[in-house]
Amino acid sequence: MSRTLNAWDKAKRESRKMTMITAYDVTSARLAEAAGIDALLIGDSLGMVFAGDPDTLRVSLEQMEYHTAIVAKAVTKPLVMADLPFGSFEDSPAQAFASCARLLKAGAQIVKLEGGAPMVETVSFLSQRAVPICAHIGLTPQHVRQIGGFKRQGKTPEAAAQLLEDALALADAGARMLLMEAIPAELAAEITAKVAIPTIGIGAGPGTDAQVLVLHDVLGLTPGSAPSFSKTYLDGASLITAALANFADEVRGGIFPT
Ligand code: KIV
Repeated sequence: MSRTLNAWDKAKRESRKMTMITAYDVTSARLAEAAGIDALLIGDSLGMVFAGDPDTLRVSLEQMEYHTAIVAKAVTKPLVMADLPFGSFEDSPAQAFASCARLLKAGAQIVKLEGGAPMVETVSFLSQRAVPICAHIGLTPQHVRQIGGFKRQGKTPEAAAQLLEDALALADAGARMLLMEAIPAELAAEITAKVAIPTIGIGAGPGTDAQVLVLHDVLGLTPGSAPSFSKTYLDGASLITAALANFADEVRGGIFPT
């Protein structure tokens, strides 16, 4: 049972690797649960993967609430984490609390927000008000227009030192988990060793406590657009296209229905 944050804390203490995958709908949530995945992330990546946008910026809190409720009621075993979308938390800790409350009421057990040092005060405010937070640092896709693309982070010694400082400050502020995206493996491993909370990596090497990937990338449903650090475990696009073409051929050929 990986449903509780305590189970994740225990796994870290016991050096057991944990797994997380994105889920936006009931079918994928149930498949991931059946596969024994430890946590489901209703990520704002749904703006790109589900809605076809070029980035995650258009995702609304209402959309996150909708998908969170669907996933949360579909499963009983995995931990359910939901993203705060761009524009729903940056203004003030009070704005962040109101948005988190909506995602928790929708069924999330922990809420993820993007940002380093500027979010420390907000994380502290939320953690004192019964909101479990996962802080997301490194490549933070909501900052893509400021960064100028989906670029790896923490490459210079100064940038790496800043990320380490941010991670320690966020953990001190009460974050229950830390997600690190597209940063050097050695840095992610160093941060993992220095914080007591579970770390989750994506494109951050093997040294984090858990790994997360986007389900559609894992299943090969995003050929040509999956990030290089992801791994495809199924040629889903070819298999599904072939099955659909088969259906169309049988209908056109009078084979189905009989
Ligand atoms: O939105 C998302 O799916 C994410 C993962 C890529 C970590 O934040």
